[in-house]
Amino acid sequence: MKNDLQFATLAVHAGEEPCPVTGALDTPIYQATTFAYPNSDEMAAVYGGEKPGYMYTRYGNPTIHALEEKLAALEGGESALATASGMAAISTAILGYVKAGDHVVAARSLYGAAYNFLNRILPRFGASTTFIPSSNTADFEKAIRPNTRLIYFETPSNPVLDIVDLEAMGRLGHARGIPTMVDNTFASPALQQPLRMGVTVSVHSATKYLCGHGDAMAGAIIGSKDYIESLSREIHRDFGGVISPFNAWLVLRGVHTLHLRMPAHCSNAQKIAEFLARHPKVERVNYPGLPQHPGHAVARKQMTAFGAMISFEVKGGYESGKKVMDRVKLFARAASLGDTRSLIVHSASTSHAAVPRDQRIAMGVTDGLVRLSVGVEAGEDLLADLEKALAF
Ligand SMILES: Cc1ncc(COP(=O)(O)O)c(C=O)c1O
Repeated sequence: MKNDLQFATLAVHAGEEPCPVTGALDTPIYQATTFAYPNSDEMAAVYGGEKPGYMYTRYGNPTIHALEEKLAALEGGESALATASGMAAISTAILGYVKAGDHVVAARSLYGAAYNFLNRILPRFGASTTFIPSSNTADFEKAIRPNTRLIYFETPSNPVLDIVDLEAMGRLGHARGIPTMVDNTFASPALQQPLRMGVTVSVHSATKYLCGHGDAMAGAIIGSKDYIESLSREIHRDFGGVISPFNAWLVLRGVHTLHLRMPAHCSNAQKIAEFLARHPKVERVNYPGLPQHPGHAVARKQMTAFGAMISFEVKGGYESGKKVMDRVKLFARAASLGDTRSLIVHSASTSHAAVPRDQRIAMGVTDGLVRLSVGVEAGEDLLADLEKALAF
C-alpha cells in the first residue's frame, strides 16, 4: 500500500488485501497457534529466515501482521510490532534500548504503570531513570548523562495533559545520538504522527482509541525496520507479550473508523473543556485545546485537534472530586479511555490512591482532580450530565 494516500484511506485499506485463497474481503482471524509446511526443506527455509512464512503465533501471525502493517502506515513508520497490551509495548520497546548500566531520562507526568516500570523494574536490571518534573526540552537535555540511552515521554500526558514539543525532542535526540520514545496513546495517529516530527519510536496502548470500543487489550510499537525486527527477534518472542489474533482483528476493525471517531471525540471535548473553564465550581481545567493551557501553542503546531482527554480540579478537594463522580449519570465511573462511551475517574481515590499524597501532588494529581475520557455521544447530553453533577 502506497503511503502517499490520505489518512482516511490508509485507515481503511493499509495492511489488508482480500484473502488470496477465498477472496474474503475482511482480514480473516487466523485463530491458529502453529503453521504447517509441505516438506522439511520448506520448514527449514522459513525457520532459517530464507523464506517468508509463519511458524508459531508468538513469532508472527497473518492477522497480527495485517494490524502491524496498518499501524506502521498510519503513523508513517517503517515497521510496527503489535503486542498484548500497552504495557507490553512500553516494556518491550524500552528493553530494546536499555541494558544494565544504562540511564533513561523520562518525563515525570506519565501513565502510572509506565512510571512503575521505569522507577521500580528497570533498577532491578541495573538501569536507572531520572524523572523530569517539566515538559520543557531544555530540562530533559540537562538531565542527560554519558550513559543515557533513551528519552521517554507522553504528549498529551496522563492524567495532567502536559504537552511536550515533538520536533524539539526529536532534534535533541538526534543532536545527542539518543533515541526518543513517545507514548502516543492520548492523541492516536489520527491527531499526531510523532515519527514524522523526528521522534524515533512511538508506542501505544491500542486498548484505547485505536481499538476504540473498549473490548480488546492491545499495544503497538512503531519505529524503524531494523529496530522492530530486532525487538521482535530478541525481546518480544522471548518475553511473550503477544496479542491474540482475535484482539488484533478487533483493533484492525476499530482502526477502520479512527478518522471518523476522533473528530467527534475532540469536538465534544472542546465544548466540555470550555464549559468547565467557565464553571464556578472548577478551579482549573487541563485541556490543550484551551488557549490558557501552557502547551496550547505547541499542541496547535503538532496535533490536528486537541484530543478528548480532559482533567479538571473541582473546588473543595478530595470529597468534591468524589461527589462529581457519584453524581454523573451518563459518564461511566470506569478506568481506561478512548472508548465510544464517556468515562470518568477521580484519580486521587482510584488510579493514584496508592501514591503517597506529596508525590501524587508533585505529579499534578491534586485532591479534587477528575479525569474525563470524552466519548462520541451527543455533546449536549454530556454537558447536561456534567452541569447537573456540578450543581451541589
Ligand atoms: C497513556 C497510557 N499508556 C499506556 C497505558 C497502558 O496500556 P494497557 O492498559 O493497554 O496496557 C495506558 C493505560 O491506561 C495509558 O493511559
